[in-house]
Amino acid sequence: MRILGIETSCDETAAAVVENGTIVLSNVIASQIPLHQKTGGVVPEVAAREHVLKIIPVIDRALKEAKCGWDNIDAIAVTQGPGLLSSLIIGMTAASTLALYKNKPLIPVNHIAGHIYANWLDEDPKDPIHFPLLVMTVSGGHNELVLMKSHADYKLLGETLDDAAGEAFDKVARMLNLGYPGGPEIARVAEKGNAGAFNFPRVHMAKDSFDFSFSGLKTAVLNVVKTEFANKKRLSKKFIADCAASFQEAACEVLADKLLKAAALHKVKEVHLAGGVSANRRLREITAERIEGGFYRDHKGKQIKLTISPKLRFAKKLVFCTDNAAMIAAAAYFHFKKSRAPFKNLHALADPSLRMY
Ligand code: KG4
Ligand code: ZN
Repeated sequence: MRILGIETSCDETAAAVVENGTIVLSNVIASQIPLHQKTGGVVPEVAAREHVLKIIPVIDRALKEAKCGWDNIDAIAVTQGPGLLSSLIIGMTAASTLALYKNKPLIPVNHIAGHIYANWLDEDPKDPIHFPLLVMTVSGGHNELVLMKSHADYKLLGETLDDAAGEAFDKVARMLNLGYPGGPEIARVAEKGNAGAFNFPRVHMAKDSFDFSFSGLKTAVLNVVKTEFANKKRLSKKFIADCAASFQEAACEVLADKLLKAAALHKVKEVHLAGGVSANRRLREITAERIEGGFYRDHKGKQIKLTISPKLRFAKKLVFCTDNAAMIAAAAYFHFKKSRAPFKNLHALADPSLRMY
């Protein structure tokens, strides 16, 4: 089954053709990053106008690169939310018009489910994914721990109570005068920094909670930056690198520890990292080190023996971690295969409580 995926939830206009949820025939992304660099963040109206300009050429290119005509497309999948409403509407309008005109089923996809299914893209048939598994979605807008016992079956174990991990990366990058988007910038300068220079808090919330909170960590970084600026009137390269590395270490340790604590509790076979922040090398490294070392840290920082040895997975390519349409087509395939229920009610789009759980 070949699905044309369309994604316009934030600042990437994307279209892709994916076969059977795993084989990526094309994956076209028109990034708006240079446009939003000027404002240091996404202005929704600016993003929506750019989507209007790009959506048709991007869909055309995705079909061409996949060497597909409309006859070879079995369904159209589109991100229905969550995201910026003015951006979502452009993708939804394009997808629903094409579905109607070309007489194809329209499959609405939750953006977070899309990120989760990015890990199925380019799947090696000799190394298939096994349930039960635990996914940690870490992106600019979302931070969740989700238990999956089968396809399209999600149990939410915890989520962020304030900022998502990517948002914290972006805000700390701003404090350190780094560019947009902040996550890759923090990761870049942190390479030369000392991760032990500042002992930032590892916020675990209550003992049995799987929720996340990054506001305390963000404030701790802000206090250090303010003090440095008050004393020295500038932020040196060394300070920026040390601060970025120490922040990254604190954020990634909490993420990895929560993921593995939940993994042990639910005795899963695999743990997955998904979403933009899953591109972070240190997050992948810390999670792998913990699994190899057979431990995680609890809310008091105490080392606890990991009684399982789950397989760690993240997307096969960096481009699958951040927003793309191939992941939307992949999620659509596995949902459609399970329920065979294409989208009927366009009014559901206006529902602000759209969630997949
Ligand atoms: O999943 P995504 O593309 O969009 C949302 O759905 O939010 O995630 C974007 C987020 C941004 O906050 C960006 O700074 C972060 O992912 N990000 C990273 C890295 N690459 C992207 N954060 C840390 N390290 C990275 N290498
Ligand atoms: Zn996303």
